[in-house]
Amino acid sequence: MTIPESRLLADIHALLGPGAVLDTPAEMAGYCTDARHKFHEPALCVCKPRDTAQVAALVSLLHGAGWPMLPQGGNTSLCGGATPDDRRPVIIAMERMQRIRAVDSFGLTIAADAGCTIAQLQAAAAENGMLYPVSLGSEGSCQLGGTIATNAGGTAVVRYGTTRANTLGLEVVLPDGRVLNMMRALHKDTSGYDLKQLFIGAEGTLGLITGAVMRLHPATPVISMCWLRIAAPADALKLLQLVRRHAGRSLTAFELMNAQQLANVLDHTSYTAPVAERDGWHLMIELTDSADLDAVMMAVLEEATEAGLILDGAIAQNLAQAEEMWAIRHSVTESNLKVGVSITSDTAVPVGHVPEFITRAEQAVMEIHPDILVTVVGHVGDGNIHFIALFPQAVWDALPERKALEAKIRNAVNDIAIELGGTFSAEHGVGQTMTGLMERYKAGPELDLMRALKDCIDPQGLLNRGRVTGH
Ligand code: FAD
Ligand code: LAC
Ligand code: ZN
Repeated sequence: MTIPESRLLADIHALLGPGAVLDTPAEMAGYCTDARHKFHEPALCVCKPRDTAQVAALVSLLHGAGWPMLPQGGNTSLCGGATPDDRRPVIIAMERMQRIRAVDSFGLTIAADAGCTIAQLQAAAAENGMLYPVSLGSEGSCQLGGTIATNAGGTAVVRYGTTRANTLGLEVVLPDGRVLNMMRALHKDTSGYDLKQLFIGAEGTLGLITGAVMRLHPATPVISMCWLRIAAPADALKLLQLVRRHAGRSLTAFELMNAQQLANVLDHTSYTAPVAERDGWHLMIELTDSADLDAVMMAVLEEATEAGLILDGAIAQNLAQAEEMWAIRHSVTESNLKVGVSITSDTAVPVGHVPEFITRAEQAVMEIHPDILVTVVGHVGDGNIHFIALFPQAVWDALPERKALEAKIRNAVNDIAIELGGTFSAEHGVGQTMTGLMERYKAGPELDLMRALKDCIDPQGLLNRGRVTGH
């Protein structure tokens, strides 16, 4: 730091103009606390640039001052990725950058500013008769840039892939303020290294995403949805094969939760369960297409019933019922927060190993502490299970050595996923909660290469230092 803090702040104010910089603790509080209220470190200030040129000028100023920076999207990260560490970074919030730049119905693409929310992107696609397929519980708040930076998954990966699979072009401000313009709306381009891939899933450690070109898909206005109560995760896999055989590419979501997860939601919301009993496991299947799906869904359910795979079930009779099923699914994070303290995992294993993963993880955490409410929810169709060791608040408050216990639980669950050929971070990113796990599971040439890339692109370590690569 070569210039005094007060001078840097004055320069930032002068650069961005009135209303674009917040620097009192009260104004900054919401930007410095994460979705689960676990992190509360302060920032120097929160900057809200309005376009790419302002981001570039700001980053160039901070680069010159050697001051740490933290890009922030909707601040919905579930692993502390978007809130400050103890270095008092300048938060660069993208919320004022919300322009839809272009929609191409021939090429099925949309170009937009990074600060657009996913809901805005979905609406813009729908207005033009197309579909932006990435869908997640936080879609009203999380942003295009944040979802690219974390390579967000969500509930439609089984059909449309992750955010990476839907990213065609990027505009990135590098840590020294230069703009890397790769906003190409192309479905094919093998002209050299595909540099945009470096920034997808990099959690803001290599550059600030200011714009992107995303893939759109034909609209699928016909929806058929059911909620099934089943005996065990192994039956979910049998149903997955069966649904694929009947529905092919119409399968859009295939989501699982256990009885504890359903109870957490029902006990803390006004929703009614689609089926009478809570026991066992609950599966949501969504088919979407442009033509009638009722016959397909009926064929699936008839065959599954004959095979003894279903204990109970309900088909949504209209859009409102389908939306209520989704409302239950999307309330899990908020409801779990009301039950107590969640030690959440974001594991993925090859799909066929999901039942073994769940059984072994449950055994492992119950051996660590018998009062854990084992809560399971996830995108079983792509192998991504959030296995949650949930402590009722009173139990948690009475525990000694909470940090050590949390680490023990995380390691036990993630070790099992890794042994089964999986990962500890499928869609949320590494953030602050899982940085230590990179050393545990990625040490060696893979982590060395990541660190070399970080050093090459951000040699001063100004962007989200200590995140992802942990250096
Ligand atoms: P933030 O939380 O603001 O930031 C996340 C990371 O990206 C940080 O490291 C930040 O520095 C970086 N970043 C943000 N914007 C930029 C940018 N423009 N350029 C560079 N770096 C940037 N995630 C899933 O994948 N699937 C789910 O199903 C899912 N469900 C959720 C449900 C709820 C209720 C909640 C609260 C969260 C859920 N999440 C889910 C997690 C979260 O919404 C995603 O990780 C999302 O992608 C984060 O986007 P964001 O804009 O909020 O980014
Ligand atoms: C979900 C978040 C936790 O799947 O990723 O609900
Ligand atoms: Zn998820």
